[in-house]
Amino acid sequence: MARTTKGPSSGKAVSKNAAAASQKTEFRFYDNRQNYLSFINTCNEKSAIAKRAGKEFQHLRPVAPALRLYDAGMGDATVLSDCLRDLHHRFPTVPVVVVAKEISMEDVRIGLDKMVDRFCEHPATVLVLTNLNYADCRLMPSNVASANAMNWQEIKLEGSMSYGYKQQLESMHPLFAHGWETQTSKVSGNPLFKRPSVVVIYRQDHQILLDAVIPRPGMQNWYFDFILASQPWRARTSARFKAEKIVAPLVRSLAPGGRMLIIQSCGKDPAEEVIKEFWPHEEPFPVNRHEIFAELRAVLGREARHFKMREESDDKAIFKYRMHALPSEIGGASIGTSTLFAAWNASVYVNQIEDQRIEQVINDGTYLKATEKVLNKHGGLHFNDEAFVISRYHD
Ligand SMILES: C[S@@+](CC[C@H](N)C(=O)[O-])C[C@H]1O[C@@H](n2cnc3c(N)ncnc32)[C@H](O)[C@@H]1O
Repeated sequence: MARTTKGPSSGKAVSKNAAAASQKTEFRFYDNRQNYLSFINTCNEKSAIAKRAGKEFQHLRPVAPALRLYDAGMGDATVLSDCLRDLHHRFPTVPVVVVAKEISMEDVRIGLDKMVDRFCEHPATVLVLTNLNYADCRLMPSNVASANAMNWQEIKLEGSMSYGYKQQLESMHPLFAHGWETQTSKVSGNPLFKRPSVVVIYRQDHQILLDAVIPRPGMQNWYFDFILASQPWRARTSARFKAEKIVAPLVRSLAPGGRMLIIQSCGKDPAEEVIKEFWPHEEPFPVNRHEIFAELRAVLGREARHFKMREESDDKAIFKYRMHALPSEIGGASIGTSTLFAAWNASVYVNQIEDQRIEQVINDGTYLKATEKVLNKHGGLHFNDEAFVISRYHD
């Protein structure tokens, strides 16, 4: 491969302690690897999201020279790789450029593993991994210091087999480890990149074909045809912040006719019922899509006229996904401990309950009993997500 560089007490008591605990430390739900990876593997959310994205893909009409996508938080790339499978099936001969933002080195490592086969099935693929902020999603940092410090790398994959691609990308882990080093923000406690990084990956044997669409440092004159923001934020963050800091800069980066699909958890499901057993006053999802639309209109002002914001009814916007379980596992004499652990984990993960608060209730086994009660009541565990779309009008 070639590389070029330039035991619960009363709900109220628990709630008070919890509020104090979460004021002290900002909670970063996406940092808990164990919970995230267990959730991904025990529930079918990621494939439900890819199916939902597929409904939007039918509206895409690619134009030369490429179809361009942005993933606003790649995570372990389960959603992204499924979405690309769908797109590669729909548009087998269209060059696809995908920019995937991710802050976590662990996710970059796992995500790369999921992407190797995409280069075989769809050789005209350019994958760009970056830790740049949403406002810089088009790979041109507005901040001069960031632009000067940019760590921009190119990886040209040699050969034509996924075996070789995997080996080549694995050998690049030190490069990613360097590019994805983080520090903790003194203000928010969030991880921040130490150096702004962009890594562009494509097949060397398709370099000439892809030449016009391979992003290079400096001015970019392209926009995105599709943006996916799947679970991109902490649910309890304000609508204003979500609209101003995440949604607005992303929709401004849409090409004419481009679409942005946003997916967030919305609760009112058995998983929230599990949570309410211990934290009866908890409101895990205080910001719904209508509030985000309202704030977005305020943030965009006159610019809002360029965008179509589809405010759909709950019937259309909300979709369900479930925890995997065998039919024989639920409703019998007692549910297996591993299923109960998985259900508890998924419930606290999706409802974004801070680790310190969880510790307060898991000292005895009552949390598993409460989980079992809810699973038996509903014949399993399911969750609700809401999806909403913003598209840019053609000029
Ligand atoms: C909850 S995960 C969702 C991942 C994926 N979209 C999915 O649906 O599975 C949110 C992702 O955004 C990433 N992320 C959070 N803050 C970030 C930041 N400041 N810069 C880049 N990535 C970030 C996290 O590491 C995580 O992978």
